[in-house]
Amino acid sequence: MRSVYVFNGPNLSRLGTREPDVYGAETFADLTALCRETGRELGLSVEVRQTDDEAEMLGWLHEAADGRVPVVLNPAAFTHYSYALRDAIAQRTAPLVEVHISNPAAREEFRHNSVVAAVATGTIAGFGLRSYVLALQAIAEISAE
Ligand code: DQA
Repeated sequence: MRSVYVFNGPNLSRLGTREPDVYGAETFADLTALCRETGRELGLSVEVRQTDDEAEMLGWLHEAADGRVPVVLNPAAFTHYSYALRDAIAQRTAPLVEVHISNPAAREEFRHNSVVAAVATGTIAGFGLRSYVLALQAIAEISAE
């Protein structure tokens, strides 16, 4: 079965209690279950991780690059300023889909720019947790081509 990583950046472990008006009432455990279930339906072995630490995220992206494992990535706040993440993403050859729960383009000005979007395969934003489902579907379809 094809492996896919779902990597989540800072504060996403706080889903459910963090600004529920923006990010919804579902928890990070709910997100993990949803991704695994979606993976089962698509024939993908999905591993979900979260970190608040930029260095740890960089290590995971290097691991994905070395193993050529496709990635669904919610970089969270790193999206808007981490050139280190951008450079790590640029090294990989397998698909990487940037996801956001909210629609950053409809929010504060500082969220309008993604420094990683240009090196991602594509971006899905604004569909709540469904953004992850859509990203996994995209990876399943791309990988089948
Ligand atoms: C987010 C949007 C980012 O701007 C924010 O910093 C996050 C979550 C989202 O999923 O909507 O932490 O990536």
